[in-house]
Amino acid sequence: MNTAITDKYSKTMRVLHWLTAMIIMTLLAVGFYMAGIDPDASDKYDLYPYHKAFGMIALLLVLVRLPVRFKSDIPQPLIGLKKWEQHLSHLVHIGLYAAMLSMTVSGYFMNSTFPYVTGVDMFGLFSVPDITPKSEYWNGICHEIHSFTAWAFLVLLTLHLAGVAKHRLMDDKENDVLPRMM
Ligand code: HEM
Ligand code: HEM
Repeated sequence: MNTAITDKYSKTMRVLHWLTAMIIMTLLAVGFYMAGIDPDASDKYDLYPYHKAFGMIALLLVLVRLPVRFKSDIPQPLIGLKKWEQHLSHLVHIGLYAAMLSMTVSGYFMNSTFPYVTGVDMFGLFSVPDITPKSEYWNGICHEIHSFTAWAFLVLLTLHLAGVAKHRLMDDKENDVLPRMM
């Protein structure tokens, strides 16, 4: 990781941050909504293809974002922040990267192991092939990981947003971290 002094995230980091944030927050809402629909309802599976296709776009964005993160100059922690605030925000960022990876990979593997579908249909344009053998057992494990990570994601995101809001609304102006990502 580079630690050059810079007061803003690079343009690439900022674009990737807001693109992934928008897609993932929508996928979380849609995912909980569609999983909660009664299995006997006629519209139960209407949203699944869109959730999966946008989930695969999220996977691609995460796979681009991780190497970009390690090659980019990252702004130093703001000196006005307390030590525990710096450590907590660092831990939450690591958690968010882990959750992004776990959520997207478990989704792809869940689909890939599911015995009754083949590939992920990308809006009727092409299909992303399966990369695992079919297995009800592994499908169940991937489903558990996907559901667990979704709840962990909500906790991490709440902490992330609470931190950003606290530094913006309750701290001195020079401790506001939001302009670094805008
Ligand atoms: C960052 C990306 C993703 C997010 C945030 C996300 C989020 C969610 C959430 C919140 C649920 C409901 C969990 C539950 O209550 O059990 C869900 C379910 C589901 N997701 Fe994702 N997902 C993502 C990527 C994917 C991908 C890539 C696929 C497949 C290619 C996928 C396939 C599914 C399926 C099939 C379900 C329904 C499972 C069921 O019927 O219970 N997801 N997702
Ligand atoms: C799913 C949604 C989101 C995810 C996965 C996410 C993830 C992350 C990650 C991993 C970082 C650390 C960047 C790094 O140093 O490598 C970060 C930074 C940041 N995020 Fe988010 N974020 C999300 C939503 C948001 C939202 C909605 C806001 C604004 C309200 C926001 C504001 C920020 C800010 C201001 C920073 C820079 C923090 C600093 O300079 O210390 N994020 N985000």
